[in-house]
Amino acid sequence: MADLYGQCRRGHTLPQALYTSAAVFDFEMEAVFTRAWLQAGHLAEVPRVGDYITVQLGKTSVVIIRESESVVRGYFNTCRHRGALLCTSDKGSARRLVCPYHQWTYDLGGNLIFARNMPADFDPRQHGLIPVHCEVVAGVIFIALSDDVPDFAEFRRQLEPMLAPHDLENAQLAHSVVLPEYANWKLVMENGRECYHCSARHPELLTAFRDPTEDDYFDAQPDWMKDFEAVCHANGLVNGPAEGAWFDILRFPIKDGVESLTLDGRLACSRLLIPSGEGNIGTLRWATEPNAFSHALRDHAFSFEAWPIDVGTTHVRGKWLVHKDAVEGRDYELAHLTALWNATNDQDKWLAENNFKGVQGRGYVPGPFSVNDEKKVIDFVNWYLDTAQSCLRS
Ligand code: FES
Ligand SMILES: [Fe+2]
Repeated sequence: MADLYGQCRRGHTLPQALYTSAAVFDFEMEAVFTRAWLQAGHLAEVPRVGDYITVQLGKTSVVIIRESESVVRGYFNTCRHRGALLCTSDKGSARRLVCPYHQWTYDLGGNLIFARNMPADFDPRQHGLIPVHCEVVAGVIFIALSDDVPDFAEFRRQLEPMLAPHDLENAQLAHSVVLPEYANWKLVMENGRECYHCSARHPELLTAFRDPTEDDYFDAQPDWMKDFEAVCHANGLVNGPAEGAWFDILRFPIKDGVESLTLDGRLACSRLLIPSGEGNIGTLRWATEPNAFSHALRDHAFSFEAWPIDVGTTHVRGKWLVHKDAVEGRDYELAHLTALWNATNDQDKWLAENNFKGVQGRGYVPGPFSVNDEKKVIDFVNWYLDTAQSCLRS
């Protein structure tokens, strides 16, 4: 494994086996995914006590559950009796978690409270659900599957003031999808970290976004950028950028005259997340390695999470949030809210799967990234290599 990583050339795509080997995938589950904070959902997905969602990462399932009004917990979704999967659906609601096999029963705090016909010396306190770390920032839930993860406090300190005005803590989930992509997870993420392909492949996305491959995109000089910053300042918003080894947060303008990330550029939801203030506040994008990015706008938010299942299968979870009091049909239409990202995700699915087909062939050799237009891909790959190699050294 060390040899394989030793062959990597920075600024280039990875050697073939890093995209195609099942042994590498198993290594990554330990070396990368067990040692990172993973964006796993929103409070809006578990609004009431007992609501839960499950996420699948490789062979590991995790359940995230609202234990009380103010506490969300995560557990390995594995019964402490003989290891059966405890929660068998993507989401649900329960007062207690009852194993479908022999009905061992856990409370929402993960304590084993019922195990039929066990001997007198059996200690239920030794058989509670195994917790995972769970943190909530401005309504967004992150989990970590081991203690060996980076500091979370700095990320919280940066994201909280930028995202809090969107009040996602009180938002509702309007829609979610799971899109299976038959591609290695790193190709899914490399694709999601650049817009070099946008002008040719994402006509819908570019109705709303300025083309970031144009030179002046992040240049502070253009008048439209100065106007944008003045509007955000007047709205009391912090724009960033804020960057850390594993996160990247920035509020940036969308196209002039475009109010939201929709096909017609109009607001997706008339009941606003940020009801006060004037002008176009663009979109707040936050991305976390290894597997997520999100956008929060004045009227809605969208999240993208990529969950590796096996070396050639990745489940992309897309989630749309709106104000808690918004009513479908009155304040928003689901098709209008979701069309832009559904189109974009379908296009990206094809691109990632097509990329995966290409890298598996004899003709594949690692190629160079564009330093100008694939900078965030270079950052992603460098973070990935640093994380994997630090694990190999330790
Ligand atoms: S495996 Fe869960 S109760 Fe037996
Ligand atoms: Fe894309």
